[in-house]
Amino acid sequence: MGWPGAALNSLNSGRAAARAMPTKPTPDMQKWCVDEKGQPRIDKGAENLCMDESEICFIDGFHSKLYYRGYSIEDLANYSTYEETTYLLWHGKLPTRSELSAFSDQLRNNREIPQGAYDLIRAIPRDTHPMEALRTVASYLGNVDPEKGKLGLDSMMPKAIRLTAKLPTVVAALARAREGKEPIRPRSDLSHAANFLYMLSGEVPDKFWERAMDVSLVLYAEHEMNASAFATVVVGSTLSDYYSSIVAGIGALRGPLHGGANEEAMKQFLEIGKPENVDSWFKENVLTGKKRVMGAGHRVYKTYDPRAKIFREYAKKSVEVSRDPKIADIYRVAERLEDLIMGQLCESRGICTNVDYWSGIVYYAMGIPIEQYTPIFAIARIAGWSAHLMEYVARNRILRPRLYYKGLLDVEYVPIERRG
Ligand SMILES: CC(C)(COP(=O)(O)OP(=O)(O)OC[C@H]1O[C@@H](n2cnc3c(N)ncnc32)[C@H](O)[C@@H]1OP(=O)(O)O)[C@@H](O)C(=O)NCCC(=O)NCCS
Repeated sequence: MGWPGAALNSLNSGRAAARAMPTKPTPDMQKWCVDEKGQPRIDKGAENLCMDESEICFIDGFHSKLYYRGYSIEDLANYSTYEETTYLLWHGKLPTRSELSAFSDQLRNNREIPQGAYDLIRAIPRDTHPMEALRTVASYLGNVDPEKGKLGLDSMMPKAIRLTAKLPTVVAALARAREGKEPIRPRSDLSHAANFLYMLSGEVPDKFWERAMDVSLVLYAEHEMNASAFATVVVGSTLSDYYSSIVAGIGALRGPLHGGANEEAMKQFLEIGKPENVDSWFKENVLTGKKRVMGAGHRVYKTYDPRAKIFREYAKKSVEVSRDPKIADIYRVAERLEDLIMGQLCESRGICTNVDYWSGIVYYAMGIPIEQYTPIFAIARIAGWSAHLMEYVARNRILRPRLYYKGLLDVEYVPIERRG
């Protein structure tokens, strides 16, 4: 029973020391953050932090290569679908015909959202950014999930199926509510991509647009330990619930340095307006350092992002299929700007066009409002977030990095009356 007195003594001695003189921690008090010379060893942006082993995704940023579970992104874009790619990411292997059929049925059968979610969507102010609204509704879906309150790995797969199936319904209903329109209920006879486009517009897309959306979902499905995957896994590593983890991912994806870049890239093309304005815009804004080119630069790719190459082909085909001169003009703006980026920023500084550069043109040609581009990214990326979450939590260790403290210690606590 002697401890309260001891604690008081140490509190008092702390006060006395503080009054004597504030100090700074010595390097050996934070060894994990200093090098052998005692200098801070900071990995700003966690660029070189290799936080775990993984079998999900490999990016070779110097040779324009990307693999999901060992399969090249080119093969997946050519031959796979979002449903199959999601199965691959979650199970580590391509499904057999019957496995794919069962998995697709699970997604189709879970597309509908409860009436409470439709009511919530209607209640969200129309000027709310769709990503912020999506975060709210995704969180609500966790409150009505049949396995709500269950933590840990066992409940993750069924929850991942339910939320992956429902996110397109939420995004489409939010997009329509924003325009004062009633939601369109999901159909179970359409693919994930076609059903999403159907719920947005009320029309079943033709094969080209269905495939363009499907490929875009495949390209956006996964990308190793990016900021949103990291946010998802950080929450999951506390053994929190699946929905809390995914909501963290949605929050991280919203920012313009991450998923929000596809919207910003499109706005930038519209701001430039005409192909003849590109050179002067680039000179005045980018070469002077006033603006970053949105849809260019990447932490990992120091050369062309292979996904951008595929999106570029779809953007080109979208212009041909849509036959809209305005879209053709925007395509030419993007093409000229890309020439400048590749010539003046890519080889010399490793700032090349990335996945978010061309995707917006495809969506624009589909008639999708710009503020829906990042939500589409989220619809796709839930596959990758869930894969990383399940992989990490299966061999879990709480994520808890350190900071180098450069402030003072033992500062005297001055009562508020004496602070001036
Ligand atoms: C993606 C991104 C956040 C990566 O950031 P990062 O690895 O931390 O790189 P930094 O922000 O440290 O940039 C390094 C240098 O390249 C420059 N740079 C990076 N991206 C640039 C861009 N898109 N346009 C112009 N310059 C850029 C920075 O100004 C910086 O220059 P400096 O060394 O002279 O200060 C960054 O490239 C960016 O902001 N891109 C635009 C947004 C975007 O498209 N995001 C989607 C990514 S898929």
